[in-house]
Amino acid sequence: MVEQRVAGLPIEHVVGFAEFCGLRISLDPGVFVPRRRTEYLVAEAIALSRPGAVVVDLCCGSGALGVAVAAKQSIELYSADIEPTAVSCARRNVEPIGGQVFEGDLYSALPGSLRGRIDILLSNVPYVPTDEVRLLPAEARLHEPLVTLDGGGDGLEVLRRVSVEARSWLAVDGSVLVETSEEQAPIAAAVFEQDGLAARITTSDELYATVVIGTKLR
Ligand SMILES: C[S@@+](CC[C@H](N)C(=O)[O-])C[C@H]1O[C@@H](n2cnc3c(N)ncnc32)[C@H](O)[C@@H]1O
Repeated sequence: MVEQRVAGLPIEHVVGFAEFCGLRISLDPGVFVPRRRTEYLVAEAIALSRPGAVVVDLCCGSGALGVAVAAKQSIELYSADIEPTAVSCARRNVEPIGGQVFEGDLYSALPGSLRGRIDILLSNVPYVPTDEVRLLPAEARLHEPLVTLDGGGDGLEVLRRVSVEARSWLAVDGSVLVETSEEQAPIAAAVFEQDGLAARITTSDELYATVVIGTKLR
């Protein structure tokens, strides 16, 4: 394990778990390591949810976000990711707490029966602009697949795809929550507004985190 760590493998991949929201999340090599700042996205989702809420964790990676919401609130949880490695890892975290995990490209992975029923759509999409991936720490650059990091030209390409279909998957008063950089947030909010959602931006100075929330109002 020491040799692996010295070789640059993220500590979470060496030990096989990540600590997230006080929980131990099982983690396999090649799966995105949940970041401490993303605990803010979870806190915002918990604030908006209610018992029995239908929660979807799209782009779920290890499944950490949905599991963390479920630890605080009794919810119906569905998680999905495009990467088979992430999906098998998420199954180990999500299924024991009664959630389901699907594999595929964004919404196409989800059962059609969820359309119009989602109360909370968590989506920590990749949002690093392509040109900036090379500036990331080696642990991310070398040990997390590009598909987990690269958000295209301005970093918001996957987010735009999530946004454009969000209205048809959300329940009335349901919200989609994404994490962005500080600079991307006003653009992401404008994207949500353009796609018929009421958008707001919220930040945590302590976690240096920015979350953009889009809500379907009638
Ligand atoms: C930034 S990581 C976030 C993972 C997890 N939500 C977390 O915060 O720890 C982004 C995730 O999106 C997934 N992803 C990228 N493109 C996708 C797509 N088109 N459809 C579904 N998942 C996708 C990646 O495989 C990766 O697991």
